[in-house]
Amino acid sequence: MASTLFFPDRPALVRRLRAAGCVFAEDEAELLIAAADSAEELTDLVDRRVAGLPLEHLLGWAEFCGLRVAVDPGVFVPRGRTALLVAAAAAVAGPAPAVLDLCCGSGAAALVLHGRLAPRWLAAADLDPAAVACARRNLAPLGVPVYQGDLFAPLPVRWRGRLDLVVANAPYVPSGAVAMLPAEARLYEAPVALDGGADGLAVLRRVAAGAAEWLAPGGHLAVEVSANQATALCGILTDAGLDPFVVHDDELEATAVTARLPG
Ligand SMILES: C[S@@+](CC[C@H](N)C(=O)[O-])C[C@H]1O[C@@H](n2cnc3c(N)ncnc32)[C@H](O)[C@@H]1O
Repeated sequence: MASTLFFPDRPALVRRLRAAGCVFAEDEAELLIAAADSAEELTDLVDRRVAGLPLEHLLGWAEFCGLRVAVDPGVFVPRGRTALLVAAAAAVAGPAPAVLDLCCGSGAAALVLHGRLAPRWLAAADLDPAAVACARRNLAPLGVPVYQGDLFAPLPVRWRGRLDLVVANAPYVPSGAVAMLPAEARLYEAPVALDGGADGLAVLRRVAAGAAEWLAPGGHLAVEVSANQATALCGILTDAGLDPFVVHDDELEATAVTARLPG
């Protein structure tokens, strides 16, 4: 659709966004103005933002590690803190690795790792059909396949025991804490993207067990958790036969754990 010339009242827009609790109101105003093709469309976008929809779902994209990642409604919005997971994963990967982005959501991690690692094989997988469709939109242009199903189940069996790196930002919020999440997550992201079971580590327990089967000897699993779950997660990874190592970044308020399969 061709855009119509229109002249938004920026100060009024910023005031409205700020009153609705948008911390970066000036930045958001500019992004919404850029996304709108007409005054009517801008009003609609701002109305929906003020009503609480995540900015990224309105724009249809999120910025992650310097890249623009398409994010569809209902799909988990990649968080800035996950830059630590991606950096930790890239740091342990050897040359031309075979890489899996498990629980890929929009495929943001795979997108960044494609550029950083020059992998000989890269794939992504997720349970949620909406996430898979979104990840395919981001990754198909790079020739990266996206599989749909429970954890490792949908992967080509020829990769069992041959992966060098499995990156998994799996859900890790304890079920009882989901209700305390910001409304943007609670109301607009799929529960399956957030709820990690009673202690938040239910999916990660299964990821650890699967990684022990799917990694090549010497390969690594890299996962994200909250800082207060790191010790329990290390116990789970050790029990699964992996050697864990915790990394933390105060500025990003992020914790990631890499775990090597001996061999
Ligand atoms: C916290 S989101 C992270 C998405 C993405 N990795 C990111 O960082 O933006 C967790 C993702 O795990 C997926 N998921 C949850 N349980 C799963 C399972 N059993 N198998 C595969 N994917 C699963 C959800 O659909 C969701 O997309």
